[in-house]
Order: sequence, then C-alpha cells, then structure tokens
Amino acid sequence: LPFPTISVVPDRAFDDLVAAMDSAMVVVTVATDEERDGCLVGFHSQASIDPPRYAVWLSTANRTARLAQGAEHLAVHLLEDGQHDLAELFGGASGDDVDKLAHTTWEAGPGGVPLLLACPNRFVGNIVDRHDADGDHVCMVLRPTDSSCRPAGRPLRLGAVTDIEPGHPA
Ligand SMILES: Cc1cc2nc3c(=O)[nH]c(=O)nc-3n(C[C@H](O)[C@H](O)[C@H](O)COP(=O)(O)O)c2cc1C
Repeated sequence: LPFPTISVVPDRAFDDLVAAMDSAMVVVTVATDEERDGCLVGFHSQASIDPPRYAVWLSTANRTARLAQGAEHLAVHLLEDGQHDLAELFGGASGDDVDKLAHTTWEAGPGGVPLLLACPNRFVGNIVDRHDADGDHVCMVLRPTDSSCRPAGRPLRLGAVTDIEPGHPA
C-alpha cells in the first residue's frame, strides 16, 4: 500500500491516516449452539488495562456479527505475514455462502468457539458488552480468558491484504 507523506483533502486525509496506521490483521471466530463462523478483522484494539478488555468491531453486514449477538465468546487470532491465504479465506468469503471452517483445521475452545490451529497467537474473550455506535460496525467488548502467545514472525498487516475483496461489503 503506498503511504502518502502529505494529504490535505479532508476525507482523503482520514482514509490515508488510517491506512498509514497499517493495522495488524486478525481473524475473529464465533460459535453459537448450532452455528460457527469467523471473519477477517482490521478494527480491533486493547481497550482497558485493569481490568483487561479488548474491543473488536464487527460489520453488521457480516454473518460473524449476527452469530456474535447470540454468543458468549469470541476468539481473536493474530495472522502472520505468510498467512495471506487465511486472510483471503476469512475476509474474502462469507459464511452465508461458504463453510470457511471446512477449509482449515480448528478445534473447539470455550463455548465451542473455533480455535484455528494455524494461529497459535490468539486469545478467547468473554463478550461482556456490546455497543451499537452510530455506524455500520458493532463493538464487542471482550474479557480475555484463555490466551496463547508463541514467538512469532511479523504480523500480517492491512497493507498486505488490500487486494482482498470483502465477502460482505461494509
Ligand atoms: C482488509 C479487510 C479488513 C476487514 N476488516 C473488518 C473488520 O474490522 N470488521 C468486520 O466485521 N469485517 C471486516 N472485514 C470484512 C469481513 O472480513 C468480510 O466481509 C467477511 O467475508 C465476512 O464474513 P462473514 O459474513 O462470514 O462474517 C474486512 C475485510 C478486509 C478484506
């Protein structure tokens, strides 16, 4: 992704600034009693230190967001820079059309939430709050429970996945 050094057009400047932040990409997975899914997410951040809280923003268009409304847990998986294929699977297709989890290996974690075996850097979070801000994404506030962190390569960043067409438009 080309990062411009100067942008003075107001709307464009916001987009350029966010692109320059070059977020690490994660896959967020979810399960209800009957269904499971996951999607690629760039909108995510730690949101409190004590108590520890993590926020992810899910597009209301996404099946993952619909399932998350009835779920107790989400799992957040950090992608590494060699994992463009996983980003494409979870970001370029919707669970409305494709069983994404049939195309990768996983095991059930707390509440059945899928844990992707290819992504050992991950945590499971209890959904403790949901915020429907005035926008097209819903904020899910997580209390981290089970975390696993292994020495890893570099994160897969937004600039490396701009070729992926989202499975659901925002
Ligand atoms: C670079 C990139 C970043 C994305 N960031 C988010 C995000 O922060 N939140 C989100 O809900 N969807 C995000 N998406 C879109 C979903 O990953 C995508 O629409 C997915 O196909 C939805 O799958 P689902 O309907 O099975 O949930 C992003 C997609 C791409 C390509």
